[in-house]
Amino acid sequence: MRIPSLTHATTLYILAGQVAHAAIELNLDDDESIKQAAGRAAFDMLQYYTGNETGDVPGNLPDPYYWWECGAMFDSLINYWYYTSDTTYNSLVTQGLLHQAGTSSDFMPTNQSKTLGNDDQAFWGMAAMTAAETGFPDPPSPSPGWLALAQAVFNTQKPRWDETSCGGGLRWQIFPFNVGYNYKNSISNGCYFNLAARLALYSGNQTYADEAGKVWDWMWSVGLIKHDTYHIVDGAHNTDNCTGMDGNTWTYNSGVFLLGTAAMYNYTNGSEVWRERTDRLIEAGKKFFINDVMYEGCEASGKCNVDQRSFKAYYTRWLAATAELVPHTHDNIITEFRASAIAAVKTCTAGSTGTACGLKWTEGVNDGSLGVGEQMAVMEIIQSNLVDKAPGWRSEVKGTGTSKGDANAGLTAPGDEERLVGDVTTTADRVGAGILTALVLIGVLGGSAVLCISE
Ligand SMILES: *[C@@H]1O[C@H](CO)[C@@H](O)[C@H](O)[C@H]1NC(C)=O
Ligand SMILES: *[C@@H]1O[C@H](CO)[C@@H](O)[C@H](O)[C@H]1NC(C)=O
Ligand SMILES: *[C@@H]1O[C@H](CO)[C@@H](O)[C@H](O)[C@H]1NC(C)=O
Ligand SMILES: *[C@@H]1O[C@H](CO)[C@@H](O)[C@H](O)[C@H]1NC(C)=O
Ligand SMILES: *[C@@H]1O[C@H](CO)[C@@H](O)[C@H](O)[C@H]1NC(C)=O
Ligand SMILES: *[C@@H]1O[C@H](CO)[C@@H](O)[C@H](O)[C@H]1NC(C)=O
Repeated sequence: MRIPSLTHATTLYILAGQVAHAAIELNLDDDESIKQAAGRAAFDMLQYYTGNETGDVPGNLPDPYYWWECGAMFDSLINYWYYTSDTTYNSLVTQGLLHQAGTSSDFMPTNQSKTLGNDDQAFWGMAAMTAAETGFPDPPSPSPGWLALAQAVFNTQKPRWDETSCGGGLRWQIFPFNVGYNYKNSISNGCYFNLAARLALYSGNQTYADEAGKVWDWMWSVGLIKHDTYHIVDGAHNTDNCTGMDGNTWTYNSGVFLLGTAAMYNYTNGSEVWRERTDRLIEAGKKFFINDVMYEGCEASGKCNVDQRSFKAYYTRWLAATAELVPHTHDNIITEFRASAIAAVKTCTAGSTGTACGLKWTEGVNDGSLGVGEQMAVMEIIQSNLVDKAPGWRSEVKGTGTSKGDANAGLTAPGDEERLVGDVTTTADRVGAGILTALVLIGVLGGSAVLCISE
């Protein structure tokens, strides 16, 4: 028996009076089956998104999802189009990306700017970069092209490189009053590295490559990349000059650096240095697989938060691109994709549609954890099996990149400090300004209080 509204990927079985849903059907040797299965996961993911409804804000997911995750979801949907050629979600993606690019076209929209981390902004920037690389239709003029939006994120982050502690690095947060301003984390530095490397590959401009090299060298010198294992730990605090570390390892930190090294390997026409880094990161990533099925460390304790439940989506996405850019890694990665996709779809038996996916692919059944992150990760692992059929990344260097760029994008936008002052001096924000000033004061006083006590 079939549910009419569902695609043929879902079959409802009636077993001894009990209703049980089959998992999403997936035959990895049949491209149509892969596309159908990815489409099913996409459909269930979009149930959470209301930003395209009249009166709602494009590019936002409802609570409990943070702003950045919607940018990450759009990146997944651009990939969905790239791998399957299904254009169903393209206009929704374009609408959301352009709305959240904000008035300064650099993914620092006023509604978010005061709580914005470098990683949050960069997840949107990387989505724009993917759009340029895959040839996702550029928005109509006068909107800036996808490439220009990615360049704007790069250009606004570049001056935030901070040498007042730890010998360099990007801080997690942009503004001093945010918790996390004193944290230099791998994801913020990794996103900047990833974007720089991809801009180098796309444009052939050595300035981006130099920046990518600088970030890698810093990560290495400060020890956020472990010299023996190439595991990438979460971050370090500039309050102790980055000597103590949060030693957690996450799939997305490994992945965000992996694609950066892969892009640099390809950009340098296969240099030994970047080959070694790419290979060592692939090897280090083996810790995230059991029998080639991907898992996140937090799954063991059952305590993955909303953000963490989406990380496998990014690791998968960046592994797939690595398989494209670094041919000798391909077979190894595909083996992992096949095993992981087969395991992942077995979790897609829940929710009102009967095909909502779970978190723990290694368990082979739905574990009750449902949401945007779970859907996104399963969608990416399914569709990445089409990587060999994809049209291939475009670039200006190859003459196939057509996205409109602007090397100076973001440079004429207000700087971070001006932006803050500008934001809080508009009439509507007077109240906010008061709160802000108070917060900064508390920060300063709080800091001195700690100093007094410790003296
Ligand atoms: C919003 O997008 C979803 C998913 O594509 C679609 O089902 C829905 O009809 C769209 N809503 C509007 C108002 O366009
Ligand atoms: C900011 O919030 C307002 C009010 O919810 C909304 O109308 C506007 O579209 C939002 N802008 C962005 C860029 O999200
Ligand atoms: C902080 O660390 C950097 C690089 O690791 C080092 O060059 C610098 O001397 C250190 N500063 C202090 C005050 O120890
Ligand atoms: C890679 O090779 C191409 C074609 O030979 C050349 O134009 C380009 O400059 C090389 N890139 C680098 C970074 O050496
Ligand atoms: C760079 O990537 C392309 C695919 O986009 C691939 O054909 C080429 O062999 C790669 N270059 C190197 C040096 O591996
Ligand atoms: C290369 O990129 C840098 C940094 O954005 C920019 O200043 C420079 O103009 C670019 N060079 C070319 C030839 O586009």
